[in-house]
Amino acid sequence: MSDSVPRPGRATAVAPANIAFVKYWGAVDLERAIPRNPSISMTLSRCVSRTTVEAVPGPGDDEVFLAPSAVDGPAPAPDEFARRVRAHLGAIRRWAGVGPGELRFRVTTANSFPAAAGLASSASGFAALAVAAGAALGRRPDGAELSALARASGSGSAARSVLGGYVEWPAPGSAPDDPRAAQLAPAGHWDLRDVVAVVESGPKEVSSLAGHRLAPTSPHFARRLELLPDRLDRVRRAIRERDVELLGTTIEEEAVELHLVAMSSRPPVFYWAPGTLEALAAVRAMRRDGLAAWATMDAGANVHAIVPAADEPAVAERLAGVAAVRRVIRDGVGTGPYLEDEPAQSGPDAAAGAGGAGIGPRRAGGSAR
Ligand code: DP6
Repeated sequence: MSDSVPRPGRATAVAPANIAFVKYWGAVDLERAIPRNPSISMTLSRCVSRTTVEAVPGPGDDEVFLAPSAVDGPAPAPDEFARRVRAHLGAIRRWAGVGPGELRFRVTTANSFPAAAGLASSASGFAALAVAAGAALGRRPDGAELSALARASGSGSAARSVLGGYVEWPAPGSAPDDPRAAQLAPAGHWDLRDVVAVVESGPKEVSSLAGHRLAPTSPHFARRLELLPDRLDRVRRAIRERDVELLGTTIEEEAVELHLVAMSSRPPVFYWAPGTLEALAAVRAMRRDGLAAWATMDAGANVHAIVPAADEPAVAERLAGVAAVRRVIRDGVGTGPYLEDEPAQSGPDAAAGAGGAGIGPRRAGGSAR
């Protein structure tokens, strides 16, 4: 190993999923996850991936294990998943200046939430992999660089999960061929919750990747791109001013438009299930009853109700009572990834700290606060 290559080691990172308020949908370069439009998301707290990476000196194949539960213990990951992880590890090696054959990685990863819940497990998974592999190589990239490293997995949403709070990707001024994320506001700025109504627990039929590829075939895609600058401004302002009504009306409009584009792609892509409409109707009914709940959906059937902390218990209870809802997951804004062996720190969200390191201590979001 050359002098510039750090000493191999081992690190465990925990990184959260995120829910997009303005969606990444359609790419300039899909392989490299260069998006057609900026997206804005809220980083979650409880839905996380926990990933251990060990850098082992010498040549050999990278090993990838899934740790489905404490009882079962780690098992070799399915082929397609292992292939994506190995490709990402290759990109991380290139970033670190590690030559082929100098070291291999051993990776074990687990999610705190069911992968089939339709939550963005690739966002949390690849964010955790970037943080843990970087640390296993003795590196501590800042938040912007970490987002580039996470994006090298091909999952654009992973580029947002490396930062806590409210995140925009690409950040204004980011190089078009190297889009990087930036934090709009730390988690402590606004205690919003995400109450997920799980109406479908099977894997979705059409991947986000296929959806991105088809997006420009929709006659509504070009119009969407025209409407987005104003919508992005409204979401930025709503976050800045903690204006839940402005945020809510804007994210509902945005989510429906994502699915309008998907459903009108050629061939069409339907992510919704009958239960999606039931959950959406329940969210509208809650608003009529005075609860501040607004809905968004990613590329899946499940409905995320975005609510201020005070309304979370009532919204969770109401959603649990909807016939089509199989389970409710309660999450909330979180502070971003952290390395497990790091001593707890105090102070502002690490992602907002002076160095913008993007790796901070564990801090509860969700209903723990
Ligand atoms: C609808 O290409 O990031 O969730 O890698 O499967 O997580 P995965 O998808 P990615 O596309 C995300 C699409 C989206 C919207 C969003 O999160 O911005």
